[in-house]
Amino acid sequence: MITDLLAPPVSAFEVFGDPDTVVLFPEEEEHIARSVDKRKKEFTTGRHCARTALAALGYPPVPLLPGPKREPSWPAGVVGSITHCKGYRAAAVGRTSDVWTIGIDAEPNEPTPSGVLEAIAVPGELARMGELRASGDKVAWDRLLFSAKESVYKAWFPLARTWLGFEDAEVAINPDDGTFTARILVEAPVVDGVALDGFTGRWLAREGFVVTAIAVPAR
Ligand SMILES: CC(C)(COP(=O)(O)OP(=O)(O)OC[C@H]1O[C@@H](n2cnc3c(N)ncnc32)[C@H](O)[C@@H]1OP(=O)(O)O)[C@@H](O)C(=O)NCCC(=O)NCCS
Repeated sequence: MITDLLAPPVSAFEVFGDPDTVVLFPEEEEHIARSVDKRKKEFTTGRHCARTALAALGYPPVPLLPGPKREPSWPAGVVGSITHCKGYRAAAVGRTSDVWTIGIDAEPNEPTPSGVLEAIAVPGELARMGELRASGDKVAWDRLLFSAKESVYKAWFPLARTWLGFEDAEVAINPDDGTFTARILVEAPVVDGVALDGFTGRWLAREGFVVTAIAVPAR
């Protein structure tokens, strides 16, 4: 699924379970040692996906530790993103010479619990929800909106290095062509001479999941 959303020069890899043969580096083991089993599994398989995606770009296996805000730390010259939800794990990476930033997210294709949509959506997104629901009932549009906003945050954070709340971006999902756009509603930081004021991304709903992905080409 993820390779339907992200094409070379981005390298992406996904799995639908947790292989029991994956070995972590000692410092990764140390990081995750006191976590519950579910967390250990998603962290471990996420690293497996990331190292597999990196290998396709020619990078040898290295420890991928979380940074201060939980963002994955990549080898020099690499950007990337990791996602996991029940039954699905994926990672996507690219060389900084090709890609400015990446954000990916996967969620079950199921409606969000009561109250979540109101908590994460800005008025323009709420207004478009009826139109999205009228376009078809095979996609949990509220969950897709949530996923797109998480992808926005994962693409935003490594560049901006600041928090971006759900109320700080407005996402417009195109129900017909599998794309979405995000408009940043707070003052856009200028990174590498470019205002970080929005993103475009792609989405799909398949095999019980909604998956969203942003990969911004390097300038
Ligand atoms: C960080 C966040 C997006 C992760 O979402 P999640 O529900 O845990 O979803 P996933 O399982 O898909 O993703 C987890 C992965 O995200 C990555 N991640 C975590 N924090 C990150 C950050 N600050 N920047 C980039 N990636 C980050 C990590 O790789 C993590 O996996 P790992 O800990 O095993 O390495 C979420 O917890 C969060 O804080 N959301 C609030 C911010 C937000 O979404 N704002 C919306 C702006 S419109």
